Amino acid sequence: MPGHFITFEGGEGAGKSTQIARLKVYLESLGQSVLVTREPGGSPGAEKIRALLLSGEVKDLGPRGEAMLFAAARADHVDTTIKPALDRGQWVLCDRYADSTRVYQGEAGVDTDYLKLLETTAVAGVRPELTILIDIPAEIGLKRVARRSQTDDSGGPDRFEGEALNVHERRRRLFVELAKEEAFRFAVVDGTKDPEYVATAIRKAVSDRFAGELNTADDAQAVTRKEAR
Ligand SMILES: Nc1ncnc2c1ncn2[C@@H]1O[C@H](COP(=O)(O)OP(=O)(O)OP(=O)(O)O)[C@@H](O)[C@H]1O
Ligand SMILES: [Mg+2]
Repeated sequence: MPGHFITFEGGEGAGKSTQIARLKVYLESLGQSVLVTREPGGSPGAEKIRALLLSGEVKDLGPRGEAMLFAAARADHVDTTIKPALDRGQWVLCDRYADSTRVYQGEAGVDTDYLKLLETTAVAGVRPELTILIDIPAEIGLKRVARRSQTDDSGGPDRFEGEALNVHERRRRLFVELAKEEAFRFAVVDGTKDPEYVATAIRKAVSDRFAGELNTADDAQAVTRKEAR
């Protein structure tokens, strides 16, 4: 595919959305065309399923049924948003993807082989070339989310945010394990550091992974100029 596919993973409040916005600015400063999207959701059909999943309205389906809905949403997202953008030659930056299902539904006890089967059909071969895992203790991420919801209109915690601290901590461990198992595509960055530090680490991971495809000679200055505006 002519474009490039980068996914961002990590627990609640790790800084995924913040860093995706920054990486978009960086890539655009290098003359690249960028599409930012998210899961669950990212296409009109999948956003409908997102609302059902995050409201907890379909929690009664149980983890296996929920996993199927995540897969249905992902299939639509891949077909109508991600794949067309990659075909157009864009950089696709996706806020959560298949790894979140492995971790969240895996933690909830859904069988690994079953999840693999759903993943294979949903992604239809569209797999990230690089996955940035922003690693952070669950407690710190949740505190950030709580602070954020005081200042925006996102309301209370969603179906997944609202779970117990030990659940969030288990998810964190699963993400880190996954990154070790598939080290060929993962870059793990320390999410407890300040946003500038995290952004720099992510830019380095992108430059390393896509060496030769980005004209990064004076990239640092270019981004500083753009962000200063
Ligand atoms: N490195 C950082 N240090 C301190 N605060 C941060 C940092 N990165 C992001 N924040 C703040 O923490 C909150 C959560 O960040 P952000 O929304 O980017 O995380 P997220 O991973 O997208 O969260 P969610 O899982 O809820 O989507 C925001 O209010 C953001 O401004
Ligand atoms: Mg976010």
